[in-house]
Formats: sequence, C-alpha cells, structure tokens
Amino acid sequence: MKYFIGNWKMFGVPKSVNILNRINSFYAKDKNRNKYRVIITPPFTLIESFAKYFQRKKILIGSQNCYQKDFFSSDTSAISPYMLKSVGAKYTLIGHSDNRAEGDNDSILKDKVKFAIKNNLKVVFCIGENKLEKKNKRTLSVLKKQLIKVLESKFDKKNIIVAYEPIWSIGSGKIPTKQELQKTTTHIKKVLKNIFKKKSPAVLYGGSVDGNNIDMLKQISEIDGFLVGGASKSSKKFIDIIKNYYR
Ligand code: PGA
Repeated sequence: MKYFIGNWKMFGVPKSVNILNRINSFYAKDKNRNKYRVIITPPFTLIESFAKYFQRKKILIGSQNCYQKDFFSSDTSAISPYMLKSVGAKYTLIGHSDNRAEGDNDSILKDKVKFAIKNNLKVVFCIGENKLEKKNKRTLSVLKKQLIKVLESKFDKKNIIVAYEPIWSIGSGKIPTKQELQKTTTHIKKVLKNIFKKKSPAVLYGGSVDGNNIDMLKQISEIDGFLVGGASKSSKKFIDIIKNYYR
C-alpha cells in the first residue's frame, strides 16, 4: 500500500472542502485506487466537518499534531488524541520539524506516539536532518537517533508510518539526490527493522514533492509514499503527483 498524505499546515476554511472534493472524484474513478491511500491533515478547525463529510468517501482525515496527554487536562489550547479520535481523525502527524522547533523533544514525542496509538490513531512520525547536520555528514546518525529515542517494539508497527522530511527541503523546492535518498531510506528501514523485529513500517518521503520531481522519487523502491505540503493545497497539483507516480 502506498500513501499520499497532504499536510495543509495553516491553510483552509470550510469552503476549502472543494479541493478535497476534486481529489476525491479523481480517486474514486482512478484505476490504481486500490494501490494507495489518500490522507489529508487539515488544521484542527476543519477536522470534524471534513471527517464527517468524507466518512463514506475515499479520503481519510488526520491531524497535524496532538497533545502528549491521553484524555482531558487543564493545559490551555491543547488537543488530545482522544479528542481527535472523537471527531473522526484516523491519523495524526507527530514530530513535524515545525513542532520540534517549538519544543517537542524525544520524551514529549514518545508520549504523543503512545497516547495516539492508545486512542487508535495511526501515527505518521516525522524525522529529518537540518542543513548543518547534512553539511557535517551527520544525516544517518541524526535519523537513527530520532527513531530509536521515540519508537519502541511495543508499538504495533501497523499503527506507525515514518515520514522522512529533510528540514532543508521543506518548502524550499530542493530535494535530495536519488543516491542520497536511496542511502537514507535504506538506512531508515534498517533501523526500523531493528526496532520492530525484522519488518519495517512504511517509510514516506516529504519535502518539496511535486508533479515533476515525483518522476525521480518514484524510482526509489524503499519509499512507500509521500507527505506533501505546498502542493496538497491545490487539487490539480496533488492529483498530478498521483497521476505521474502511476504513469
Ligand atoms: P512541502 O512541505 O511539501 O511544502 O515542502 C512538506 C511538509 O512540511 O510536510
């Protein structure tokens, strides 16, 4: 199964459902539709209405983040996995570099993963090196650390997807070379096989994915799908990625 996940970030109002409607119409008729899943993570404000609207359709709705506690608490503005599940979210991103930059450390991320899974949300766990780490050739060790500090064999790998998003690539239009990606994704799967006793969860690539660079990205066999930011806010751009992937 391949994954095409659209991360809307701070984008969208109720009428933006039209973008998803167009993606859904394409998906419902696509002859390749059984080979992949489409998940969109709109802002918190739209999760409930979108999840209701797409309940019987093909698109699944997820959240961009969740709080590191299970149920209810007195933390102002926090939204727990339980609350997300109750409004129809099926997935949640955890560890996006935007949230790591705001203070999400390994111990917070571990709690987020734990409570998301406890509440039957599937976790898209994001990892990635920054520009300096890449320059200093620390990419592989940084990625390994990000994985082993948070993921544990007791988490069911069916509930986890890992998204490799180099921070320097997000929103920049730059992506790693094919050789770099082959090396990093093989490394990520090796680390994951060690954690999860032989079988690796799905590994996605994210960072400036578009309808053009997908031609190169699809040649890397270790990549099981894509986390798409900017290009997921346009139905045409998002559909182009899927079309070109299966071309
Ligand atoms: P981008 O964002 O596709 O706009 O680079 C990816 C992400 O941050 O998830």
